Amino acid sequence: MTKTQRTATLTLDGKSYEFPVHTPVVGPEAFDIGKLYAEADVFTFDPSFTSTASCESTITYIDGDKGELLYRGYPIDQLAEKSHFLEVCYLLLYGELPTATELEDFENRVTRHTMLHEQMQNFFRGFRRDAHPMATMVGVVGAMSAFYHDSTDIGDPWQREVAAIRMIAKMPTIAAWAFKYSIGQPFIYPRNDLDYATNFLHMCFATPCESYEVDPILARAMDRIMTLHADHEQNASTSTVRLAGSSGANPFACIAAGIACLWGPAHGGANQACLEMLREIGTPDRIPEYIARAKDKDDPFRLMGFGHRVYKNFDPRAKVMKQSADEVLGLLGIENNPTLQVATELERIALEDDYFRDKKLYPNVDFYSGIILDAMGFPTSMFTPIFAVSRTVGWIAQWKEMIADPKQRIGRPRQLYIGAPHRDYVEVENR
Ligand code: CMC
Repeated sequence: MTKTQRTATLTLDGKSYEFPVHTPVVGPEAFDIGKLYAEADVFTFDPSFTSTASCESTITYIDGDKGELLYRGYPIDQLAEKSHFLEVCYLLLYGELPTATELEDFENRVTRHTMLHEQMQNFFRGFRRDAHPMATMVGVVGAMSAFYHDSTDIGDPWQREVAAIRMIAKMPTIAAWAFKYSIGQPFIYPRNDLDYATNFLHMCFATPCESYEVDPILARAMDRIMTLHADHEQNASTSTVRLAGSSGANPFACIAAGIACLWGPAHGGANQACLEMLREIGTPDRIPEYIARAKDKDDPFRLMGFGHRVYKNFDPRAKVMKQSADEVLGLLGIENNPTLQVATELERIALEDDYFRDKKLYPNVDFYSGIILDAMGFPTSMFTPIFAVSRTVGWIAQWKEMIADPKQRIGRPRQLYIGAPHRDYVEVENR
């Protein structure tokens, strides 16, 4: 719980209003202006929410100046090194690291829900054969509410739990099948004897004609990508899930909304855009041209994989990702990968450039993830779906936290209206 020991005073037209100031466990204090409109008849104006906390949360904490990311208090680099994705899922969902028995039980529950209702294949087959896998995922995840009615009552904690497990378990199957469909290969069923990341790689790369031996180093790298993307407090897609959920919408519909939001290039779509940019640059000698474009106010081009709303220092996830990229490329014997060379040189040049230093623009998680996924054999169109698979647990943990919060009400921002004032309708012949 936040502490409230101080108040802030707002003076407007000679009248003073007192507002509680909440002190969180860590991080900046927050003025509680919930009663501002009722008492002073004014709104606050904060487009894009740069200074607004939308909720209390116990799940994830980011210190943007330090470049620190904590899941339930645990630093991301420790979790990436010592834990694994399903353990991290448990931590995010239930608040504590599991005991061995709890973990085994959780892994069993997730593993037993990996199959999709057989009829759902018809949904996949309804899409154009070259559909972007994100388009397919938005549709299929939304359609889950049509198949799993018995877990759509958000007022029932047991149904919420079942929906959570179902989504975590089925999302890799959905993403892998969206991929298979987009390349015209048969769907590969999940294998419950494999761990989460290995099973995902199996469903993506095995075919009925040939089994696919998943290299444990690649499986570990995939597991790490999932861990690093699992949650990131109130980012755009998570806020979308919370806002959709605040109306009482069912969890499958809310997560579909989150996937739609994640797709944009300023958010989860940046990993695809980043690798495409690195390929377009092609060779290190062309980097200065792109740096100049990124700095040019009249050019909409931005260095993809650079900058972050909250991090004003290195994104801690990018550090782990770079290390993982080195490992994977080393394993595959492609250290001289031209894309990695461009990325390394681009990072070096940008970090020495005053424009990027002054604006505190550092590489973010998307800068290196694409290089790993590309080396694993994924096309760029699969990068954002893999982000969606990984972030599903974060969205669900945040959604569950919101539903269980007795203070939760429908989210409803206000606006500063700058359109036409009241005017009377004019008949068409008089316009
Ligand atoms: N390249 C060049 N200039 C940039 C960049 C960039 N990547 N990012 C920010 N800037 C400049 C921007 O032009 C602005 O300059 P000025 O103050 O002169 O107008 C200043 O830095 C602040 O940028 P902003 O757009 O106001 O910052 P924001 O917090 O609204 O945007 C961001 C954050 C991540 C959308 C943005 O940095 C960006 O577009 N980055 C590239 C896309 C990207 O990599 N996104 C992935 C984010 S991490 C994963 C995720 O969240 O999904």
